[in-house]
Amino acid sequence: MERESFGSRIGFIFASAASAIGLGNFWRFPYLVNEYGGGTFILIYLVSVLTFGLILVTLEVAIGRMTGKSALEAFGVLIKKYKWLGWIAVIVPIVLLGYYCVIGGWVLRYAMQFIGGDIAPFIDLESSTNFFNNFVTETGDLWNGPVLWFVIFLLLSTLLIIGGVHKGIELLSKIFLPILLILMAVLVVIVFTLPGIGVGIEGTFIPTLEGLTLDSVTAAIGQVFFSVSVGSGILIAYGSYLSKKESINSTVRITVVMESIVAVGCAALIVPVAIAFAGGVSVSGPGLMFEVIPTLFLQSEYGRLTGILFFSLVFIAAITSSISLTEAVVAPLEDSCKIKRKKGVFVALIVSGIIGLLCCLSLGELSGITILGMNILKFTDFFSSNILMPISALITCIVVGYVFGTERVIDEIGAERTSKFAVYFHIMIKYICPVILVFIFVASLVPT
Ligand code: PHE
Repeated sequence: MERESFGSRIGFIFASAASAIGLGNFWRFPYLVNEYGGGTFILIYLVSVLTFGLILVTLEVAIGRMTGKSALEAFGVLIKKYKWLGWIAVIVPIVLLGYYCVIGGWVLRYAMQFIGGDIAPFIDLESSTNFFNNFVTETGDLWNGPVLWFVIFLLLSTLLIIGGVHKGIELLSKIFLPILLILMAVLVVIVFTLPGIGVGIEGTFIPTLEGLTLDSVTAAIGQVFFSVSVGSGILIAYGSYLSKKESINSTVRITVVMESIVAVGCAALIVPVAIAFAGGVSVSGPGLMFEVIPTLFLQSEYGRLTGILFFSLVFIAAITSSISLTEAVVAPLEDSCKIKRKKGVFVALIVSGIIGLLCCLSLGELSGITILGMNILKFTDFFSSNILMPISALITCIVVGYVFGTERVIDEIGAERTSKFAVYFHIMIKYICPVILVFIFVASLVPT
């Protein structure tokens, strides 16, 4: 069977951007910026993503294209006896998908609230925060609580891919990404011209020495994995669809830069408002986007319309990412275990469904259960970004750096083996990335 490939380079860029740009930008990045020292966090994130983040993306895409296989098989093609290592790249997306759909469900609920519900609770930060807290903790209430929305989002993320959706994702992202960027730019201008926003902007963007802590460094590096989807197998699968004619370097550079711009844009949209106008209300943590953004919309007479537009776009950004997560689970099962696509989707649905349900309930009925001081949702998020994805990336670096050798990967990228890039790539993969990766999960496990 001939392997499906992307229609064009621009198609690959859009599809990988659609996978990269998602809740990581809108939901996760801003709340981490707010929690971990504003400007310092942004700076560490940008430096990390543009150095080792970019290199790891390049490595995974190159492995995918070189082997023409998804993660599970790719390792076996590189070196036969390491085939089993590919399994970790299947476990990562299956875990991620579970809790991703919980947050995706929140987005869907908010979109619906703006479309047909009462938006009065968003009039100020205090009542907006109450609305959010009531919603996520009412896990026993089928209609008003988060469980139903989680299930709908999970079903959409999984069932939509049964027919194979590359062309669909390509098309969807070509339309929605530009609209998203324009809407974001407009909203950022509105935020930056709000009276009294100055302190918020300073608090968000000016780096401070106090912001530089072990926690902020590990959180920022964890965010790199989550946001550029490194260590999840998806880049290997997408690389296998990339045509041999295209330049890997320039293609992935565009994706990573685009991803970073959207992340910083989202922080600019959300964090200054949280800092400047919170007053006595404590807005922080995973609810940040949901608490802050709606109140901003209600400042104008087009509040409902802006809300519908914003949450629909975030929904599309989230669903295209979660579809790519399902693809990262199903493609290897299909490729290596010869499981039919439908069955693979079913496996993803059940396993991620159980993980997601536990995450969902951890804010309500199961709130008493904590692991390392975190509820199940927070722990799953932490475990995938700070432990599983770095381990997966570390294994890839070690297999390529120490066993397979970087040379043939450099050939695949299309660089001369003696070029400056080749030297940089070799040093990064063999020495610097492994050190950073070991550091991040050791540091993540140090109790603070
Ligand atoms: N990068 C996506 C986001 O920012 C999440 C994701 C991770 C998607 C891993 C696919 C694989 O939302």
